[in-house]
Formats: sequence, structure tokens, C-alpha cells
Amino acid sequence: MSSDKKDKSRTLRSAGWFGTADKNGFMYRSWMKNQGIPDHEFQGKPVIGICNTWSELTPCNAHFRKIAEHVRRGIIEAGGFPVEFPVFSNGESNLRPTAMLTRNLASMDVEESIRGNPIDAVVLLTGCDKTTPALLMGAASCDVPAIVVTGGPMLNGKHQGRDIGSGTVVWQLSEQVKAGEITIHDFMAAEAGMSRSAGTCNTMGTASTMACMAESLGVSLPHNAAIPAVDARRYVLAHLSGMRIVDMVWEGLTLSKILTRKAFENAIRTNAAIGGSTNAVIHLKAIAGRIGVDLELEDWTRIGRGTPTIVDLQPSGRYLMEEFYYAGGLPAVLRRLGEADLLPHKDALTVNGQTMWDNVKDAPIYNDEVVRPLAKPLIEDGGICILRGNLAPRGAVLKPSAATPELMKHRGRAVVFEDFNHYKERINDPDLDVDASCVLVMKNVGPKGYPGMAEVGNMGLPPKVLATGVKDMVRISDARMSGTAYGTVILHVAPEAAAGGPLGIVQDGDFIELDAYAGKLQLDISEEEMKRRLEARAKVLAERKPEMVGGYQSLYVDRVLQADEGCDFDFLVGCRGAAVPKHSH
Ligand code: FES
Ligand code: MG
Repeated sequence: MSSDKKDKSRTLRSAGWFGTADKNGFMYRSWMKNQGIPDHEFQGKPVIGICNTWSELTPCNAHFRKIAEHVRRGIIEAGGFPVEFPVFSNGESNLRPTAMLTRNLASMDVEESIRGNPIDAVVLLTGCDKTTPALLMGAASCDVPAIVVTGGPMLNGKHQGRDIGSGTVVWQLSEQVKAGEITIHDFMAAEAGMSRSAGTCNTMGTASTMACMAESLGVSLPHNAAIPAVDARRYVLAHLSGMRIVDMVWEGLTLSKILTRKAFENAIRTNAAIGGSTNAVIHLKAIAGRIGVDLELEDWTRIGRGTPTIVDLQPSGRYLMEEFYYAGGLPAVLRRLGEADLLPHKDALTVNGQTMWDNVKDAPIYNDEVVRPLAKPLIEDGGICILRGNLAPRGAVLKPSAATPELMKHRGRAVVFEDFNHYKERINDPDLDVDASCVLVMKNVGPKGYPGMAEVGNMGLPPKVLATGVKDMVRISDARMSGTAYGTVILHVAPEAAAGGPLGIVQDGDFIELDAYAGKLQLDISEEEMKRRLEARAKVLAERKPEMVGGYQSLYVDRVLQADEGCDFDFLVGCRGAAVPKHSH
């Protein structure tokens, strides 16, 4: 969209506060003036909110004040009036029982902050996993112009002379401690080496995945996903995003013009090419729900499967986000897809007013090891595998690029854990009747069950199996797993056990059949037996007492939708717009 589409006679939303010479205008302006703001700032300039998830308790976003400062400079340069505001900061590493519990809370905070305030558009400062979907969900429900600026990934971790990746190395080293391969001292020494700069996890975990999703949806400037947090070019991008959002106001370029069905199809294909996190399935569904785009689980099969994974990053591959940026970043991936006719919608509009293809068609590619040619993929058939069957009537997911090929088709005896505590009690027991061919099943770790659907699905293996040198087993639960984790791990089983799903009736010794190629997940019991057990289970569930009575957690358990519906609250789905509300006095 060229600058001649700019319409500066457009009525600004913020004029509903600041634009009148009456009692109300006096009130809105006067209190703002206590911050030293001169009159001319209120004279028809776009007011741009900088929605900041800065917090020292969200270490991944702890450098955001500096990013906000650069966004602010860009907004001022382009003739806007920046106003920074805080929202609930969902930090993955500290928040218990899981940051997912408060993703919807943060999205409500964002939505109401935008709608209730004199804001014409918003820059969304996102970083740690849940902050990206939470802010996009809230902004989508308002449908104002919005642009995502990500905090950027950490520099490569360094430990004992080698590169280590956020999260991924934790899972690897903790299994090595259990198997007696390294000492606890080696393990502890990796802590400081793993997180040695500002930024988000440097693997293709959920934070990097969601940053790539934002870029492939078209809601950030090109290269937003991969520039390291401490690279000066990250701050240049923040500045340019600040400039761009002002023009988006004059162009009336609201989120719904960008977050179309086409954008989501591009994102799903991109997720396959980058070997992205399974969490994207839930978050994209939730964002789509807010803007009114209908996504189905099967869209992941239809659009994603068959796409080669060409980004060689941990946890599926070798490298980290720093190398990804130096190799050309996401534009390089999108170019490769587009040249092979694998980018579903080259004409999808992006926040800079250009199409996706205009943005990436000449993107340089500097390193074929990191962003591999399609003919030499990391995984031939990437994407996320959607499973269905009598064990998951409303679906489950598996990430083939993180799985062991030999286990993708497997029949095994179930070893069942009733919940996460039961798992922890039993898993180290030398008498546990388990071998490498078994299927580990964990119940009651889903949205309502945990509550919040924690990232516990990649259960560590029993030490006695690890001691035989085995590194992977089939695992099934209604939980999620960290995007930095790996293994033949079946997640997001819906309906979850705590909502009466069949996962809740699996017993030790049952046989489970997985055929990831055919998208099947079956519990080998008769229909009559299934019916009998489900009836008995319904009685148990009816008598179950909640862990916490009252408070946000109760609201969550009552109103959260299942994983196949994006785990949003039922009452938050949809776009409610940003009409100027009634006066407050
Ligand atoms: Fe924040 Fe990984 S813990 S991005
Ligand atoms: Mg994570």
C-alpha cells in the first residue's frame, strides 16, 4: 500500500477522548498533561499504544524497556504520539503451575486496555512463549492496526566448548544425569552457559516458533523473528516498526485485513518448514478464533504435512537462532517455499503494506546448512501430525520431526499414570513393570485437569529403560510439551481425561496402537468395555473436588475450551471491535 493511500482526514479513534473543547476533553487531556505533554501532541496525531510485557519475572522480556524506547523514537519520527502501557507478563520459566493458565488472562488485559483507552493503534512487544499469542488474541478481538515487535532470541548458549540450546539441553542433560553419563556438577555448570544474554529461548521452541508465526502471518516486519535480542539491528527493527504503525493508522490497515484465512494457511505451511512447536496448533487456533477465521485441526494435515522441514535448528536439528538469522532468517525460508510453489498465498497482505512475496522474493540465503535447500531437507515430511481414533475422538498431535521414525507406527502395552504426581512417584521405581516397547500414558494434565495444560507431556523415561541406552518411547497425554522438547510424544489428546475423554479410562496393561502415517490412535478394547469404563469414569469425575475454589483458576476450569478449540475461554472467542466506549464521568 503506497503512501497515497494515506488518508489524513480520517477521524482518529483517540479524538473521541482528546478531540473536544468541553468538560470531557478537558479531563482526558489535563491528566495526561501531568506527564509534561504539550498541547500540540493532542492535535490530531495518531496515539500509538506500546503494549509492553516487560517484567523482571519474565527474564526473556526483561530488556523490553530498551526496545520500547526505540519503538517510541520511530513513532515520534513518523508523527505519532507514543504511550507505553504494561500488561500481564506471561513468563514461561517462573510461572507456576504453567504460563498457559494465564495466557487468556493476559489476552483479556490486552483487549480491555486497548478498547478502554485513547489508542489508535498498538505495537505489541512480545517475546516469551505465551506473550505472542496473548497479545495477538487481545488485539485481534479489538481489530485495530497492530504490529508485532519481538524481543529476539538469546545468543547461542556455550558450555564446555560447545553450543547448547535453551530448554533442549535441559532435557538432554537431565536424562544423562539419570543414566549416570554425567555428574550433577556438569549439569549445574550448564545453567549459566545456557542463558548468557537477554532474549528468548534460542532453539526453535515455542517463543521462536510464535515469532516465526507472527512474521509468516504478516503481522510483523520481515526479519522480526530471528534477529538476536542484543543485535543492534533488533533495535533498528523496533524503530522502523514504530514508524510503520503510524502510517498504518492513516491507511486504516487493521488486523483483520492481514489476519485472513490466507495468512493462517501461510503460517501453517511455515511451521512445517521451520520444524515449529506443537504449541502453535493451539495458539493459532485461538488467534484465528478471535478474528473470525475458522481453522480446523485437519488444516494442519492438509496444509502442513508433506512439507519438508528445511530449517536445521534444535530441537529437531543442529543449529540455534543466531545461525538462523545469519543464514537469512525467515525471509530465506519463505523464499525457498515460494520458489517451489509451496507458499500457499504469495499475495497475502503484510503490515508493511506489501504482499508476503514482495517482501521475501529476493531474500538472500547465506548458509545452506542452516536454511537447507528443499532438495536436501532436514526432514522430508515435516509438519504436525494430527491423530484421531477412539483414544482421541477430537484429536491429538505429534511432531514427526522430533519423533523416532521407528516408533511412528507402534503397538505397545500401556503403563498408566493417573496424574503428574503419580508419574513422579512411580517413574523411578526399579520395580515398575516397564520396558522400551511400552507406551507411557499420563492423564489429568490437560486444560481443566492440570489446570492450564502444563508442558509435562514429554515425560522423562524410566531410569531402568534409560540405563539400557534407549532414548525414546511412545508417550501419550492431554498435556502440551515445550517446543524445545523432543521424542515420540503424543500431546493435546482431546477431550482431555478431566473432561470425560477416553484417555481417562486407559488401564495398565491395555494395548495402544499408534499409526502416525495413517493419523490413527487406538485403544485396543471392545466398544462394550469402552462404554462400561466411560460410565464408571463419569461417576468418578462427578465427585471430583477442584484443587482450588474461587479465583481466576475456577473461572479457567469452568470456561476453558479443549485443545482442539485453542484453549481459549468460550466467552472470549470472537472480535468485539474497538468502538469508542461511553464516557467515564
Ligand atoms: Fe521464555 Fe523460553 S522461557 S522464551
Ligand atoms: Mg517454551
